[in-house]
Amino acid sequence: MKLQGQTAIVTGAGRNIGEEVAKTFAREGASVAVVDLDRERAERVAAEINAAGGKAKAFVCDVAKESDIDATVTAVTAAFGGLDILVNNVAISDNKHMLDITTEEWNRTIAITLTAPFLFAKHAAKAMIAAGARGKIVNVSSTSGYYGRDRAIAYTAAKGGVANMTRSMAIQLAPHNIRVNSVVPNKIGSPVGKEHFDPTRPVKNLRDRPGVPEDLAKAILFLVSDDSDFIAGTDLFVDGGCSALMPGNE
Ligand SMILES: NC(=O)c1ccc[n+]([C@@H]2O[C@H](COP(=O)([O-])OP(=O)(O)OC[C@H]3O[C@@H](n4cnc5c(N)ncnc54)[C@H](O)[C@@H]3O)[C@@H](O)[C@H]2O)c1
Repeated sequence: MKLQGQTAIVTGAGRNIGEEVAKTFAREGASVAVVDLDRERAERVAAEINAAGGKAKAFVCDVAKESDIDATVTAVTAAFGGLDILVNNVAISDNKHMLDITTEEWNRTIAITLTAPFLFAKHAAKAMIAAGARGKIVNVSSTSGYYGRDRAIAYTAAKGGVANMTRSMAIQLAPHNIRVNSVVPNKIGSPVGKEHFDPTRPVKNLRDRPGVPEDLAKAILFLVSDDSDFIAGTDLFVDGGCSALMPGNE
């Protein structure tokens, strides 16, 4: 098992990608903090992990509030006796044109998709340093942080910020023996903010299928395991190769 004896926080672990990451980590021996705003979702995932013989606990946290983040990191550390891994997975999308988005919608999207991963990493890194851990942080980014979109503006700005913030975090936390990387998904499972997966979801990539949460969970497992010990400050694209395509020149 690749994560035996380690403690991991996975934010937004109540469904879809975060749920699969939490379950994958638990199968690899980690104690997993299933963090979500939605208590029912977090408790269901934690219960399923425990029923399958893993170790998990649900933590209700609104990542838009620094006080919640601080309290969650403290509670997880107390419950599991340390902290080794953080996966910053929560995001929301505005799905708006720039001429229509309100300032309130812009601020909320930036708060949850960009500021929250920063604050979670800050509080988690302090706990990792205090515990003397060889920490690992993975920020879940998006191809929307690398390319413009017609129906999202705050989300694309926030994910672009996540990309470069990951590099600065990697540099600033390297002296503390904490490795920081990002994964860059495109069309994995259901769209952000949606519950149900449509396997016929139209995609244009080199694999001719939409991604499934397992595709991303395996990549994140790699980035938090010792298999990636020499990898820091990088963005791992898990997008079926769609970023390799140049529109109009396929
Ligand atoms: N699904 C995709 O196709 C896709 C593509 C590119 C990038 N991503 C990225 O992958 C990550 C996960 O996406 P997903 O589709 O699984 O998301 P999702 O919307 O299905 O799940 C997000 C989870 O986060 C929780 N959450 C929402 N707001 C919260 C808050 N304020 N505090 C705590 N928890 C909160 C929700 O309750 C939910 O359980 C996101 O960072 C997203 O940007 C997803």
